[in-house]
Parts: sequence; structure tokens; C-alpha cells
Amino acid sequence: MLPQTATTPVPTPVAHEDFMPLNGIDHIELYVGNAAQAAYFYTHAFGFRPVAYAGLETGLRDRTSQVLVQGRIRLVLTGTLVADTDVSRHHARHGDGVRVIALSVPDVDHAYTEAVARGARGVHEPFEIADDHGRVRQATIATYGDTLHTFVDRSDYDGPFLPGFAGVGETGAADGANGTGAADGDLLLAIDHVVGNVELGRMEEWVSFYEDVFGMVEMVHFSDEAISTEYSALMSKVVASGDGRIKFPINEPAEGKRRSQIDEYLQFYEGPGAQHLAVATRDIVGTVAELRRRGVGFLGIPDAYYDDVVARVPAVADQLDDLRRQGLLVDHDDEGYLLQIFTRPVGDRPTVFFEIIERHGARGFGEGNFKALFEAIEREQDLRGNL
Ligand code: FE2
Repeated sequence: MLPQTATTPVPTPVAHEDFMPLNGIDHIELYVGNAAQAAYFYTHAFGFRPVAYAGLETGLRDRTSQVLVQGRIRLVLTGTLVADTDVSRHHARHGDGVRVIALSVPDVDHAYTEAVARGARGVHEPFEIADDHGRVRQATIATYGDTLHTFVDRSDYDGPFLPGFAGVGETGAADGANGTGAADGDLLLAIDHVVGNVELGRMEEWVSFYEDVFGMVEMVHFSDEAISTEYSALMSKVVASGDGRIKFPINEPAEGKRRSQIDEYLQFYEGPGAQHLAVATRDIVGTVAELRRRGVGFLGIPDAYYDDVVARVPAVADQLDDLRRQGLLVDHDDEGYLLQIFTRPVGDRPTVFFEIIERHGARGFGEGNFKALFEAIEREQDLRGNL
């Protein structure tokens, strides 16, 4: 029996002491098995535009990176050129996955010093790189698993991505790379949240990490009872920056009759890591129709899901046929509603996937959909022999 879940109020995050000002997510870097083909997938299927490139032609000898933008989202796809690099080792262990969640900060040195003083493990002390376009200061700390946070200050830089990267194409690389807003035709506008999966019993530790190191505050708490199905379950807490611009839900597996989807992730990612990137759109019906046309695969939802949608969220009554046709999920809280859908895993392993989300006031994460969603995930888990 599943308890009622949908309407846990979301408190407004208040930062009492902003020792770690964050402008937002600067970029997400994925280490992948084949950056050229991954770039083809993210441009042709997801609608990103290539803006910058680094590799042999720019003087790199051991790796290559393709930088793609859409709206204010910047994705970096990095592959290895030789056998033994941190890229090849990361890929061998994890498959395609998120290596860096880079955060734009006003002061890299301050951010790094504060983070390390507050318990983060330093990976790269502050350093500056420069080219004809200006200079960028960066530093890196570790978070869950092999995932990193890089602090970036690009306020003195107007190149396509970072010093050392060459611009690509004729599409106004600087505009896109500087995140000056959505071009006409962008399907996806911004990163809404990035979810991390951590081991059983480690969620609290990582929530405390984001509270202690970044001054983030916990937004929502759902117990395993709130988001379990007959078979599998998870626990989830969300930490957010004071202004709510950065939201990091953290999941851990919970006991169920069968194996949790988080366990499946942890097994095939071989450890903790980023589970999904949620990207915001203003027209989810049109966006998902277009993504489907371009070949993006989404989790299917049983038709019965739509039987009580209008009763739960009357505001979507006019859209019900479109929502059903596109398989969109609907949830609400005291402040509004949201529409969302989840892709199938984007790589070979049942690990990383994307969420498309359109918010109308609601500040939750679709908890009211977890039962329908988990049942859909579990049908696919069962097909993989992992339930
Ligand atoms: Fe999400």
C-alpha cells in the first residue's frame, strides 16, 4: 500500500550565511567512450549545437572534448585518445557518465578555500588559463564517487568555452557558450536539477556535505515509505543553493521486496554517481514530440495513469490528450504543478538518463509520480534481469 505522497510542502530555502555564493551550473562534463559519436547523438537527438572543440588539432595529445550548448545548458563530451588516461579509466569503470558538475562562482579562490576548509577534498588548487579571448580561473573538489565539482570564473573570458578550445561552426559560438539565453528553436533551456545516487546509508552524509561545504539547505524529504513500490524503493533528499538556482537531489537505495533501481545503478555504474540531468523546457508537449521524432527513447507509462490525472491536477484538463499521447507525468504541490518525463538510459549501461521538466509554479521533483514511474522503471529492470 502506497501512502499519499504528492503534496509535501517545499520550504523556501534560506541561506543564513552565504559563505559560498554560486552563480549556477557552468557546465556538465561527461566522460564517454566516443565523444564524436556522443556529440552526434546529443546534437541530432537532443538538439544541442556544437560550439567548441579540443583535441589533436588544438594541441591535446591524450583526449578530445566536444562542447555543445542549448539554451543555458553547456555539455562537454570528453573521450580518450590513448589507453591510459583518467578518461579511459573512468570510462572503463563507469561507462559513459558525468565526471564534472562545474559551478560558476564569482571568486574561485574563495570558493575553493572555503570548500576545503569545510571538509571537501581538494583535487586541483586554483589555477588560471588564458588565451587571446581572456582568462579563466578554475579549481576542483571531489564529491560522491568519482564525480567532481569544478569552480569556474569566466567573467574575464569571451571565447567559445575555455582557453585552449577552438570555436566550431558559424553558429555564434560565443553567444551560446556564454549562455546568453535561448536561441529560437531551442527545445531545452536550462538545467533544473542534477541527481546523485549514493550507497545505502550514505545519503545523510552527502546531504551534510552539501550543507557544510556549500551552505545549501535541504528542501524536501521523502521517506522510503513515501516512494516505494511493491518491489523496490529509494530514499531521497534535496539540497539547494540559497537562491534555489542549484538543486541536487541525493538518492540512496531502500529496502524493498526486490532490488532497488538505485542498486541497479550502483552495480552497473560501479559506485555512486550522477543519475539524471533534468532539463527545463517551456513547451514539454512540443519538445517531447520533437525528441521522439529525433529518436530519443522515453519510459512508457500505463494508460491507467491518466484516469485520475485531472482529478489530481485540474489545471491540465485541457491538455490531457496531449499529455497522454506523449506519455507525460503530472505532479503538483501547494504552489502549482509540473509536467515531466524520463528518457531511457542514454548509454549502454542502465545508469545515466535525462528528465525533461516544465514547471508551472511547483517546486517539487515529481514525487507524486514515483509510484507510476518506478513501476515503469521496474518493468524495464525486469526485462534486463535486474529486478
Ligand atoms: Fe528529477
